[in-house]
This record gives sequence, structure tokens and C-alpha cells, in this order.
Amino acid sequence: MLARRGDALTLALARCRRVWGGVAVFSAVLNLLMLAVPLYMMQVYDRVLTTGSVDTLLALTTLVAATLMVFGLLEASRGRVLTRAGAWLDRELGSPVLAGGVAAALRAGGGVSAQGLRDLATVRGYLGGPGVLPLFDAPWAPVFLGIVFLVHPVLGWIGLAGALVLFGCAVLNDLATRKKLTEANGAAVRSLNAADAAIRNADAIAAMGMLPALARRWGEAGGRGLDLQTAASDASGIISALAKVVRFGLQVAMLGVGAWLVLGHEMTPGGMIAAAVILARGLAPLEQLITSWRALVGARTAWRRLRELTDGGRDRGEGTALPRPVGRVAVEKVGYVPPGMREPVLRQVSLRLDPGDALGIVGPSGAGKTTLVRLLVGSLTPTAGHVRLDGADVTAWPDPDRGRHVGYLPQTVELFAGTVRDNIARLGEAEDEVVVEAARRAGAHEVILALPEGYDTLIGEGGVPISGGQRQRIALARAVFGNPALVVLDEPNAHLDADGEQALVEAVVGMCAQGVTVVLIAQRAGVMAQVDKMLVLQAGAATSFGPREKVLATLRRPAMTAEPAPARSPSP
Ligand SMILES: Nc1ncnc2c1ncn2[C@@H]1O[C@H](COP(=O)(O)OP(=O)(O)O)[C@@H](O)[C@H]1O
Ligand SMILES: [Mg+2]
Repeated sequence: MLARRGDALTLALARCRRVWGGVAVFSAVLNLLMLAVPLYMMQVYDRVLTTGSVDTLLALTTLVAATLMVFGLLEASRGRVLTRAGAWLDRELGSPVLAGGVAAALRAGGGVSAQGLRDLATVRGYLGGPGVLPLFDAPWAPVFLGIVFLVHPVLGWIGLAGALVLFGCAVLNDLATRKKLTEANGAAVRSLNAADAAIRNADAIAAMGMLPALARRWGEAGGRGLDLQTAASDASGIISALAKVVRFGLQVAMLGVGAWLVLGHEMTPGGMIAAAVILARGLAPLEQLITSWRALVGARTAWRRLRELTDGGRDRGEGTALPRPVGRVAVEKVGYVPPGMREPVLRQVSLRLDPGDALGIVGPSGAGKTTLVRLLVGSLTPTAGHVRLDGADVTAWPDPDRGRHVGYLPQTVELFAGTVRDNIARLGEAEDEVVVEAARRAGAHEVILALPEGYDTLIGEGGVPISGGQRQRIALARAVFGNPALVVLDEPNAHLDADGEQALVEAVVGMCAQGVTVVLIAQRAGVMAQVDKMLVLQAGAATSFGPREKVLATLRRPAMTAEPAPARSPSP
């Protein structure tokens, strides 16, 4: 079964619904217990003060004290349940959201953003925090109003009018702020993402003095968001001040009209006090809703983005495990149109490779070479045709399973924060020998030993800085780790020196001798001397495919001959 990730979100929410069902029950009991204090007041005024009975006072006080203890316990438990529900939601959704982010980055062709995880934190913060409680308490307002009606209908009508005005304030607040807040939220996200990109490109920014321009752009995006946010806060502030005035006014009206009714002997003083307190309690959540509206809108926007992120993605985490392939590759009339584009980047590309074949792909920058190899390793799904590994469609093959049989050196190599060993072992567990063996096969063993702590050197964020060439060699070791049946190298010699190039040539020769199918893209001729088949890509179409000598004969281009040619700079 291929599970869709969108399901994970719905499923988690459905399971959370049970937790929130529990919170709703807690809230019901808490709201009822809240009546204890006003009822106590009423009894004290009407019974104790009129009869002078100390016994009654003691009994009532004991009763209300016990009720308050239960109230305290329930209130604390409700908070604990919410916090845990939030943390649980985070754990449950963390990996589908991360996977959704990776899938979105694949679709967009790079530029991973951690926005999904930020959104998840926002949702967790809201659902697991006190901001969500007014939503559970507000539905009890009618019950409190009903009780006020029981005390005296006139007070009930005043309360109802007040409640309607407060409710109107909440609606008005939503109308006045929702659009602004959603836009402000979007602007904040854009400016955070811009900051992310800036930090990734720190080098270029510093070298070319781009910081002032960058700061200006970033400030403009952030500034628009701030303006919108300020406007929303202003509107919200006026409305919540109005709501406060209404609530205080309501209290005055309750006491004023109440006193008048008491004087007319229509009700007791205790009833008057109790009705005022009950109404205040009952309407408080409506007012809190207005103050916490911004958090609610923020959480809802974040949730929507999460849905979009995890929807329409692919999840190939599970499926029937297939046996280890021998490395037979078949590309059948493959075409690729990037999402949102009309022109295909690749059209009608076909080729076949047998185990032990080495294929060299050449062609100008932008011809679609990288796109073709991304389709080969299954990180992109073709929009037409099929890519098969040992007869099985690579896009139908579960990722972790297929990944074991495929080695890939991307054109832009980013290593993970961790040790060299972690990076070679693809962040998993591995025997020392297997890691060293992979490094040896990639010709990276000596280079790694020369690092400060050899295989245990920390690289990536916060680690030892390493050169582009060192990075490429470690990434090559990661590609050949675990003896994959198919190894795909996208411009593996772009940053290599003569030694590195020699090591690469030996690695390719060694792999082919072992029956590994190798596909490589190279702009320089050196390593091309080792391939036995070649594919020429031009503007997304395969103009020539076949044995190397034949293809070279049709090419008649000096840079593509077997003799080392002057180095050309690689395409981006
Ligand atoms: N995700 C994408 N969205 C839009 N255009 C893309 C995407 N991926 C690749 N392209 C376009 O496809 C073309 C081929 O890119 P690429 O395969 O990287 O070429 P090469 O590796 O041969 O230099 C380029 O014009 C590039 O802009
Ligand atoms: Mg490329």
C-alpha cells in the first residue's frame, strides 16, 4: 500500500480529536464547577446574613473549598493534557512534514526550506497552549446566560444583549483583521525564507558586498508584513477595548438593575451579586477570543500550508521489497516537464544499459543532463515514459529500499552535519570496514586520513571546513557505499585536481569490473576515456547514443575526444 502523506495529517488530527474530546469534557466540568463561587455568594448573602447561622456558613465554606480543590486539580490536568497533545502532534507529524518539505524541494528543483517545521511548531504552540482554551469555554456562555435568566428574566435579557454585542465584536474583529493577518503571516514567511537563503549564500554576499541591497530587500518584505500586522493590531486593539467597556458596562447594568429589582422586592441581594458574577464568568471567553484571535489565525494559516505541503507529495516509504537488482537500466521514451512549466526539459529519451556498462552523458549546459540523471535515480518522476531498474519502475520502488541499490553524486554536493564516517554511511549504522572500503573504492581513503581526525572529523555546520574537492571525494564514497548496483555521478570531477581525477578514473574502472552500472556526466574529457557508451543531449533531446567510438565519430568535437582537453569550467 502506498500511503499518501496527506493522510498522516488527517489521521493525526482525527486522533487528536479524541484528545480534544477529553479536553471538552474537562472544560464542561470546569465550567460547571465555576458556578460554585457565585452560588456560595448567593447563599451567604441570602441565608447566612439573614439568619445569622454560623453553622450554615461553615458547612457552605467547607463545601465550596472542596469544590475549589477539585476545580484546581482539573484545571491543572487540562493544561497537562493539552501540552502533551501538542507534543504528540509534533512527534507524529514531524517526519511527514519533513518528508513533505523534501518532496517540495525536489519538485521545485532545490532550495530546501524549513518552513514546514516552523509551521508545525506554530500549530503545536497554539493547540498545546492556553490560547485554544477560550474555544472550549465559549460554548458554555449560553448555559451561564440561562442561569442568569433563572435568577431574573430582566437580568437575563440584559446579559443576552451584552453577549450579542460581545459576539458581534468578535465577528467584527475577525472581519477587520483576518485578511491583514494572513497577508502579514505570508510576508513574514517570505522574509524568513529570504534570510535562510542569505545565510546559505553568505560567501557570495560578503565577497560582492551584496549585504546592503540584501538587507534592503529583506527589510522591505519584513516591513510590509509589520505594517499589516500593526494595522491588524490597531483594529483589534480598538475592538477589544470596546469589548472591555461593554463587559464592564454590563456589570454596572447588572448591579444597577439588580439593585432596583431588589428594592422592588423582585429578587434577593444574593441573587443580584450571583447573577453579575455568573455573567462575567460566562462572557469572559468571548473577550479572550478577541485578544487571542491573532494566534488562532496564525495557527490556521500554518495548518493550511502544512496541508498543501504534505498533500500531493509522494510517499514511497513502504511497499514490497524487491531483490537486489543486477543493474540493468532501461530508459523508455522519457519526457519531463517541470511543475508549472509548459515546455519539456527532456523529450523522448531512450537508452539501455547492461550491468557493468559505463555511460558518459555530454551536452551543453541546460541540455537536461542533470534532469535525466535525477530521473534515473528516482528523485524525480518522469511526466512521460518509464525509467526501469531490472525491469521495475524506479518511481514505484520504495525509496529506502531502492536507495540501497543506487549511488548518486549530485551536481551540487552538500554534506550533512556529522562525521565523515556518518556522511559516507548515509547517516546510518555501518561496520568500520564497510565505510573504509567505500572510501577506498572512491579513492578517498588517503584524503580522509589527512583530515584532523580522519573518519571521525566533524564536517558540515559547526565542523571543520573542507574544500570542494574533498567534499566531492567524500560524496563519491557515499555514492559507492554498500555496493550499489547503479552508480550515477553528476559532474564528479568538477572540483577535482589531477590526483582526484585519477582516483575517480580508477573508481569507475573498478566499479565496471565488478559489474556495477555507472552513469556519469562530465564536461572534461579525462574520465570520459573510461566509458564504453555515450549519450549526447541537446536541448532536452538525445541526439546520439551508442558505443563511445561511434558517438565520438559523429561528434567531431575536440573537447569530447579521449585525450585530456584544457579544463573548462563546469556548468552551474
Ligand atoms: N524544477 C525545475 N523547474 C523549472 N525548470 C527546470 C527544473 N529543473 C530543470 N529545469 C530546467 O531544465 C533545463 C535543464 O537543466 P539541467 O538538467 O540542470 O541541465 P544540465 O545539467 O544539462 O546543465 C534548464 O533550462 C533548467 O532551467
Ligand atoms: Mg547539470
